Amino acid sequence: MESKLKNKKILITAGPTREYLDPVRYITNESSGKMGYAIAETLHELGADVYLISGPVNLTTTLPKEKITYVKTANEMYQECQKHFYSTNIAIFCAAVADYTPKITSEIKIKKIDDECSLELKKNIDIAYEFGKVKTRFQQSIGFALETNDILANSKLKLEKKNFDLIVMNSPTLDQGFGHDTNKISILSKDMFIDNFALKTKKEVAVDIANAIMDYSRAFQNLVDLSF
Ligand code: C5P
Repeated sequence: MESKLKNKKILITAGPTREYLDPVRYITNESSGKMGYAIAETLHELGADVYLISGPVNLTTTLPKEKITYVKTANEMYQECQKHFYSTNIAIFCAAVADYTPKITSEIKIKKIDDECSLELKKNIDIAYEFGKVKTRFQQSIGFALETNDILANSKLKLEKKNFDLIVMNSPTLDQGFGHDTNKISILSKDMFIDNFALKTKKEVAVDIANAIMDYSRAFQNLVDLSF
């Protein structure tokens, strides 16, 4: 299928990250990676040059193997994104990156000795925020917001803080979001235009997101790069 995204280089992060306490224990979250994979597959079918950086997931995919790099931690995900971001036209930050990581990762399995023990955590790198700072006007980025409350206000704050062009809003309810095959989204753009969609399969949602990116990228079509 011919599309505006043909040969555009698109970086996508997907899935959860694991933050290790020791070699066999980690903190993670419920993300299945289904939404990010559906987006990557849809964009690949539209002819885009897709690079998927995936956290640990349990999914099969139609994407060619060489298009996927598997990582475990947020830090590894950031390092992999560094390799691609600067030559990317569009970056889609779909991963549910863990916000915190253990202050210390033990190299050996932690023994159970005391009745109580506490865990010290430190903030993880915010991948989308870091790339939002260096993004040029020839690049677009899309983020995701999964909120339980004040979804619009929180999404708007994220869009601005992380310098996204579009943010996909969803909420974690019974039949949508994390782990499910369906999702109900709204897309908020930088110019504060909002598009609401019905509950759909993640594959259909991925098509809606691809269309939103194509519509939005129309504004980029006539931009001339005079930075040489
Ligand atoms: O976790 P949060 O709700 O702030 O995530 C919003 C967006 O930022 C998502 O698109 C997510 O992929 C991205 N993010 C990231 N690195 C983080 C946290 C979030 O890229 N450490």
